[in-house]
Amino acid sequence: MLVKATDMGVRRGERWIIRHVDLTVDRGQLIYLIGANGAGKSTCAKAILGLLAIDEGSVERIPALKVGYVPQRLALSPTLPLTVRRLMTLTERFPSSRIESALAAVGLHRLGDPPVTTLSGGEFQRLLLARALIHRPDLLVLDEPAQGVDMAGSGVLLDLIQDIRRDLQCGVLLISHDLHAAMSSGDDVVVLVPHEHDERSVGLVDPYTGAARQGSGQN
Ligand SMILES: Nc1ncnc2c1ncn2[C@@H]1O[C@H](COP(=O)(O)OP(=O)(O)OP(=O)(O)O)[C@@H](O)[C@H]1O
Ligand SMILES: [Mg+2]
Repeated sequence: MLVKATDMGVRRGERWIIRHVDLTVDRGQLIYLIGANGAGKSTCAKAILGLLAIDEGSVERIPALKVGYVPQRLALSPTLPLTVRRLMTLTERFPSSRIESALAAVGLHRLGDPPVTTLSGGEFQRLLLARALIHRPDLLVLDEPAQGVDMAGSGVLLDLIQDIRRDLQCGVLLISHDLHAAMSSGDDVVVLVPHEHDERSVGLVDPYTGAARQGSGQN
């Protein structure tokens, strides 16, 4: 076990953003976290990582767990002249051999050192993956790494994630909208439903779409 959430809940005001979530990631496992927009996937990932406090249940992490995290949104200042290699060492310095091997792992080693703003969407996502990899994490948490990547590109990205998992023997928690990939390649799939725990709509939501099935239409 790397991380284990038991009956985890996060509340904001009156509203439970997520509740009764059970999720375990073991070494070498690929666990998918899926659900519609607003279902609480990003919240769940942050709670697992300890980046936000939980209001119910528990989260256990092995001591000294090394995490590689690619958040859904990265706040990069467009005025900051960040290059590919500079981004890799933004928070911690690494020997250049280590940077090269992380870039090679995602196929970006021949790119040179251009400003990150000139990268294509797919290249940028692979760069973020390289940045998460350089720490040689035990656990990789990827929040929609295929965003803005076309279908062929997202297949490449998934293959890459599989290679990384095999090479590092790390656990991967992958947030995705690709139900097909989740069912075919995940060791486990955790599905979150938006507004599932809102008092009004309990028992009325479709477990897959999160849409109200009948009645008031309030969801
Ligand atoms: N700090 C916060 N305060 C209040 N509400 C929040 C906060 N963070 C998230 N939420 C709400 O919690 C819900 C879940 O948000 P979250 O970002 O976890 O969803 P998601 O499943 O990642 O969605 P998406 O697929 O759009 O990325 C949303 O309705 C969001 O508005
Ligand atoms: Mg999200």
